[in-house]
Amino acid sequence: MTDPQIDRVRIFDTTLRDGEQAPGFSMTETAKLRMARALAALKVDVIEAGFAAASPGDFRSIEAIAREIDGPIICSLSRTTRGDVEASAKALAPASRKRIHVFLGTSPIHRDSKLHMSRETVLENIRTSVAHARSLVDDVEFSAEDAIRTERDFLVECLSAAAAAGATTLNVPDTVGYTTPDEIYELFRFLGQHVDRPEGTIFSTHCHDDLGMAVANSLAAVRGGARQIECAVNGIGERAGNCALEDVVMALKTRADAFRVTTGVDTKRIMAASHTLAQVTNSPPPRNKSIVGANAFAHEAGIHQHGVLQNPETYEIMKPEDIGLAVEGIILGKHSGRHALAARAKSLGFILEGDRLDRAFVAFKTIADEIGIVDSARLLSLLSGIDTGAPERLWKLNKVDIRSPVSANAWPVARIELEHGERGRVTDIASAPGALDAAFLAVSQMMNLPARVDQLEMQYIAVDAGEPAPDGQGANVLTEITLEVDGELYAGRARGRDILPCFVSAYIDAASNAEAVRNVRALQRATTNSVQHATPQAA
Ligand code: KIV
Ligand code: ZN
Repeated sequence: MTDPQIDRVRIFDTTLRDGEQAPGFSMTETAKLRMARALAALKVDVIEAGFAAASPGDFRSIEAIAREIDGPIICSLSRTTRGDVEASAKALAPASRKRIHVFLGTSPIHRDSKLHMSRETVLENIRTSVAHARSLVDDVEFSAEDAIRTERDFLVECLSAAAAAGATTLNVPDTVGYTTPDEIYELFRFLGQHVDRPEGTIFSTHCHDDLGMAVANSLAAVRGGARQIECAVNGIGERAGNCALEDVVMALKTRADAFRVTTGVDTKRIMAASHTLAQVTNSPPPRNKSIVGANAFAHEAGIHQHGVLQNPETYEIMKPEDIGLAVEGIILGKHSGRHALAARAKSLGFILEGDRLDRAFVAFKTIADEIGIVDSARLLSLLSGIDTGAPERLWKLNKVDIRSPVSANAWPVARIELEHGERGRVTDIASAPGALDAAFLAVSQMMNLPARVDQLEMQYIAVDAGEPAPDGQGANVLTEITLEVDGELYAGRARGRDILPCFVSAYIDAASNAEAVRNVRALQRATTNSVQHATPQAA
């Protein structure tokens, strides 16, 4: 018989504290509040909202989160000083569930080189600060900073002292990302046997990723008895980051047979939380990041696609919908085979067989070679032209001309010339606060498609001017854009020599995708009466 309390691992999210303090991930107060809402929707147990004494901005963010967010415990980090503990209590005051998290270095190197404290002084500081925190709030956590490099007997003394002073969670951080799964498993077993504590005290793990083992170490700590994992969305945190929340939660869920514990996280909100973080920090996770990277559920290689089409479990151990990802798991690209193309076309209402499949496959490979990924909208555009012989892309960029303002108050003006498959050359002018916005506006006027730019990305392939790029395409910029048109998102890509025309071409690509989808839908609506009409073979 399993005990739900013992088998439940608390997820303590430190995206807004350890994550936020890392270079490149700082957030404004508004951004922190937005992220805290995403974490509450994710149903984490604890949100470490910041370090109240660190700055007035941190204090205000914690206070705002404590005021608005209901559900998770809201926590503030504190050193052992009275001032820190009191600042935390004050910032947390509006929260219905609050925790003060007191930390102090316990390892010889922290004691001698940073704190200049004897073992006895460290113990005294722990007792006084935890007791003080406990006089202000009911829920106190103590962290023995650099616990992994602390002498075992002294670590036991520190954690026992914290528990005696009222700490209900005892955190054992691997502050420098040094431990290994075997070692941390064994340490938690040891602490479970030797630390004096009241029943119900929770051991917690907090691992950094300097050697790439934060997730493995956190999981091993759980096997050793830890019942709280400190982690951060997308794995952000000091230096190489913290244990990634999405990885550890999905590992516990997917391998419940091995770990036999549960979390309260609503995994369907993982993707949304990751996306919110990427937006507020302007730092998307790498494409190949486990769980939340753009490639995590994408199958491009032909042999994988064939397998996934027969049975998703051939190459997938989790379902994309489990993390709230509505994806076309099969990414069509230059490695995709005919099976994948035919299957995706079928899902879009096009039956491809025989000569039709051959022609579509040739056209598809040409595009895939040129732009890499062929998404549904792009494919629709290709398929709708395959029978009629109509050009796949009606719009093409001819010229971009930007006039920058002489005075500080004036806006840049963009003059854009497009080539249309039927109308020939079309030109328009627009002005906006930024040159790129002006160019996009001119294109949207010509295409008569009101669109909002949702995301822009650029990769620069550094080559000397005049030299061919290493990809042999003479390109040094790859741009990707996502447009929102009538509440739906469309992606566009382009490669080119120069940033500005490249972004404009990517915009045209995405807008053309939107146009193609709308045209095909209109055609399908007009011919909905029979099954043949639902598969527009003669479109
Ligand atoms: O890494 C660490 O030791 C910390 C503590 C403050 C918990 O972040
Ligand atoms: Zn840390």
